[in-house]
Amino acid sequence: MDALHLCRADAIGEGRSRGFDPHGIGSDTVFLVRFRGQLHAWRDACPHVDGAPMAWRKDAYLNAAGTRITCHAHGAQFEPDTGACIAGPCTGRSLQRVAIEIDAHGEVHVAAHLRAEETEKWQR
Ligand code: FES
Repeated sequence: MDALHLCRADAIGEGRSRGFDPHGIGSDTVFLVRFRGQLHAWRDACPHVDGAPMAWRKDAYLNAAGTRITCHAHGAQFEPDTGACIAGPCTGRSLQRVAIEIDAHGEVHVAAHLRAEETEKWQR
C-alpha cells in the first residue's frame, strides 16, 4: 500500500498545496491543500473539461493568497474546503473529493476502502 501514501500531514502548511501521483501513472492525479487548518484532498481533474490537470506548475493549485483553488486552463476558482466552483466556466460544479486517512504517525494516505476502486478509475 506504499504507493498510495501521500506525505506527512505537517508537510503541507496553511495556504499551501501539493500534487501527488499515488497510482504511479506518471502525472499527478490528486492534490492536498491546507485551508483553515484542515487538509483537503481533491482529484486533479477540472470539472470544466473532464480530466484536465489544474496546476499551472508542479504543486501550484492555489491563488497567491492561498484562499482559492484555481485551474490554470481557463481560470475557474474553487473553495478549498468544499471544492465548489464559485467563479469561471464551471461555476456551480465541484471538484471530486478524495477520502484520506492520517495515521498515528502523521502520514497521509488515500483511504483504504477506496484504494482499489480509485486505482482502477484513475488509470487513464
Ligand atoms: S479546464 Fe479548468 S477552467 Fe477550463
